[in-house]
Amino acid sequence: MDTAVQVQEKNRTTSMTEEILSGLQKSQKTLPSKYFYDKRGSELFEHICDLDEYYLTRTELEIMCNNISEIHRALGEKIQLVELGSGSSKKTRLLLDEIPNLKVYVPVDISGKFLRETVDELKSEFPHIDIEPVGADYTRPFDLPCPPDKVRTVAYFPGSTIGNFTKEKAADFLQQVSNLVGQNGALLIGFDLIKSEDVLLAAYNDSQGVTAAFNKNILTHINRKLRADFDVDQFEHRAIFNRDKSRIEMHLISLKDQLVHVEDEAFNFKQGESIHTENSHKYSQESFRAIADPYFTPVATWIDSDRKFCIQLLESNSE
Ligand code: AVJ
Repeated sequence: MDTAVQVQEKNRTTSMTEEILSGLQKSQKTLPSKYFYDKRGSELFEHICDLDEYYLTRTELEIMCNNISEIHRALGEKIQLVELGSGSSKKTRLLLDEIPNLKVYVPVDISGKFLRETVDELKSEFPHIDIEPVGADYTRPFDLPCPPDKVRTVAYFPGSTIGNFTKEKAADFLQQVSNLVGQNGALLIGFDLIKSEDVLLAAYNDSQGVTAAFNKNILTHINRKLRADFDVDQFEHRAIFNRDKSRIEMHLISLKDQLVHVEDEAFNFKQGESIHTENSHKYSQESFRAIADPYFTPVATWIDSDRKFCIQLLESNSE
C-alpha cells in the first residue's frame, strides 16, 4: 500500500533558492530554520531530544502521559485531529491510542515522502481511524479533507514549534489556525515556559555538541541542495538568550573573513559576523495568552511539576 499525497496547488510556496538568497541579503543574515531538517538534520534533532540537557520533548511527553484521560475528556466528542507538521512521534501515537473519540486523523506536512511513509504505518496500526494526509505548508492556508462543520476539528501543534515564530508571526499563525478549525474548533498546543537562563542555555549548548552539529548542518544541507560553497568548519555554533524578546537565538559565527557563493550570488562575511538560524521563544501563560487572545480562549492547561513546559487546549473564537 502506498498512499498518494497530492500537494495542494493554492498552498505552493516560495522556492528554497529564493528564501536562502533573501535571508543572506539582509544586513543581519538569516537562514530559515525549516532548512535544518534534511535527513541528517532530522536524525540530529532526534538525538537532541534524547540529551539530558534538552528537557522539552521529554517533559511534554511526560505531561501528556500523566494527563491523558483528562486530555481525552477535554477534547470532546467525535473529533478530527489535524496535526500541523505531522508526526510519527510518540506523542501522536499516544493520542491515537488513548483518545477513542478520535475519528479522523489529518497529518499535514510539506514533505510528501515523509507523509507516505508514516501514513501507511499508521493505517495498519490504527485501522479504526480514518487517516487523511494533507501535503501542505501548514503556515499557509490549506483545505481540510473533512469539513469542520461535520466533526469537531482540533488542531494539534506540539513540540514548542510555535516558539520558532516571532510573536507577530505566531499571532498571524494562530489566526489562521482559528479560521481552519472554525466555530467549535480547538487547538492543542505545547509551548516552552520561561525559566532560569542557565537551564535554557544548557538546552541549546549541550555538552556533546549535538546542537552545534545540528546548527551547522543547515550549511551542509544548503551546499547539497543548491550551488553553494559554505566552508562548514569556518563557522561556529552560538546560542544566546535574548531577554528582551524572551527567546533563545541560534547563530552561526564566521570564524574568519570569507566569501561564500550561493547560486549566482556572492556573500561577504566578516570574522565574527553571524547568521541567525533560529528563534525559540519562551512564554509564560500570560504572554502566550496575550498573543492568542483575539483568536482563542484557553480552556485547560497542563504543566509538569517543575513548571518547565506547558500544554494548553484553547477554543477557537471564530463565529
Ligand atoms: C523543534 C523548534 C522546538 O526550538 O527547541 C532544538 C528545535 N533547536 N535545539 C527548539 C531545536 C535547537 C526545537 N523545536
